[in-house]
Amino acid sequence: MARKRILITGAAGFLGSHLCDRFISEDFHVIAMDNLITGDLRNIEHLFKLENFEFYNHDVSTFVHVPGELDYILHFASPASPIDYLKIPIQTLKVGSLGTHNLLGLARAKHARMLIASTSEVYGDPNCNPQPEEYWGNVNPVGPRGVYDEAKRFQEAITMAYHTFHGVETRIVRIFNTYGPRMRLNDGRVLPAFIGQAIRGEDLTVFGDGSQTRSFCYVDDLIEGIYRLLFSDYPYPVNIGNPDEITILEFGEEIIKLTGTDQKLVTRPLPTDDPKQRRPDITKAREILGWEPKVSRAEGLKITYEYFKSLPKDIIEKIEHKDFANYNK
Ligand SMILES: NC(=O)c1ccc[n+]([C@@H]2O[C@H](COP(=O)([O-])OP(=O)(O)OC[C@H]3O[C@@H](n4cnc5c(N)ncnc54)[C@H](O)[C@@H]3O)[C@@H](O)[C@H]2O)c1
Repeated sequence: MARKRILITGAAGFLGSHLCDRFISEDFHVIAMDNLITGDLRNIEHLFKLENFEFYNHDVSTFVHVPGELDYILHFASPASPIDYLKIPIQTLKVGSLGTHNLLGLARAKHARMLIASTSEVYGDPNCNPQPEEYWGNVNPVGPRGVYDEAKRFQEAITMAYHTFHGVETRIVRIFNTYGPRMRLNDGRVLPAFIGQAIRGEDLTVFGDGSQTRSFCYVDDLIEGIYRLLFSDYPYPVNIGNPDEITILEFGEEIIKLTGTDQKLVTRPLPTDDPKQRRPDITKAREILGWEPKVSRAEGLKITYEYFKSLPKDIIEKIEHKDFANYNK
């Protein structure tokens, strides 16, 4: 039987590269697409020798053409961290809107099923905790994070419209903070920022008083949830994340313990629109997909710390403080 063909956008990024690995291991023909604006070919270079893997260097905010049949599309192309989307706000808005529109058109033409990567950021700074899918969010459209949050909200809206109006088979995953190997140390998220600071022997920067909460999902758990959602028949948004919530202060202490360093936590002013709490309600994922996270924070952090420690010294050293430590996302 011919292999199923899947297009993965954002394939050279953190999550996209793990998705490529998963679908290759399930014997799919993987067509990877990325314009490398935040991604890195080193994340997928081990796949280049395979006959069932191909790569296109292409910006999906422009017209997307893929020769041959397509069974599935996973749209993961988008700047995803606060550092990135503050640096490239227009590209962020374009890939969520124009990029999604282009890919939905492709899905329609090829009769492919399309899954989009949405985010817990659609909830903004939430007024309820945990956040169920029915919560509509509390987003500031003109704040610094608006370019990302609103692009993702539009992305969900146009995806639902293609589903209801054109009958395209669509799936929407709302991803909560995910971590693991191939994250970038300087992407502005709290986890790599803390680990990077610990490895370099710097104090760990906490923004605000550190009472804001986050919850972290290990990448293998997320990929399993996405895989199950793609093959489910559920077209509405599903939260995938780890509900194990922790304050930034407690998390900083965990990192200091893990890395065995004697750094301190130092505080700085809280940035604008920083969400105070973040925790997924995963009832739907449990009921519809039979999914829940399996990897504890202790296990996942250990693997991730080993990965960061194994990076070439110049990558770890060259990151300047101002590059990474603006947000405790
Ligand atoms: N990592 C998380 O915790 C998280 C949480 C919520 C949502 N998401 C979503 O998951 C997706 C992937 O995130 P990530 O953490 O892997 O980020 P990432 O930056 O590592 O990967 C994104 C990839 O998309 C590529 N890209 C961006 N714009 C493009 C364009 N116009 N055309 C082609 N390629 C383009 C980048 O070069 C990069 O390789 C994003 O859509 C993001 O919004 C991630």
